[in-house]
Amino acid sequence: MYRNSHSVVYAIYCDDTPIGLLMQRDHRDDEGNQLCILDQFFIDKDFQGRGYGKAAMESWLANVKKDNRYAAAELCFITGDSVAEKLYESLGFVRKPQKDDGDELVMRYAL
Ligand SMILES: CC(C)(COP(=O)(O)OP(=O)(O)OC[C@H]1O[C@@H](n2cnc3c(N)ncnc32)[C@H](O)[C@@H]1OP(=O)(O)O)[C@@H](O)C(=O)NCCC(=O)NCCS
Repeated sequence: MYRNSHSVVYAIYCDDTPIGLLMQRDHRDDEGNQLCILDQFFIDKDFQGRGYGKAAMESWLANVKKDNRYAAAELCFITGDSVAEKLYESLGFVRKPQKDDGDELVMRYAL
């Protein structure tokens, strides 16, 4: 599935140290919109809370915008992950409850 949906994996570095990972893939929704899905995203626990997650997301979002071929970026987080939810909200993502899947809650950033 990942190979067929133009998946891209980005390693997140602090100087020369790899401290996290971010993965995106393409997805065409039922209305025919091309979406960029953020699939995996984490920062090593020893490096959390130091601004790296936000900086990585800002940089990723800027790239997605520059790509200029997506109607929106979408991601999901697990119910109760308030750090992730607040981070995404602060970047302009809004909840899209119609697309929730159990405890996986969806957020969308229109482009
Ligand atoms: C979610 C995650 C990627 C955030 O990365 P991070 O580098 O820790 O986040 P940052 O340091 O950039 O902080 C982002 C915001 O969250 C806040 N924050 C970070 N850690 C926090 C904590 N433990 N408690 C409360 N707030 C916290 C920061 O204050 C910051 O808010 P601000 O922009 O208002 O200052 C990281 O915590 C993580 O990998 N968590 C485990 C995996 C996960 O949940 N991934 C997301 C899947 S959807």
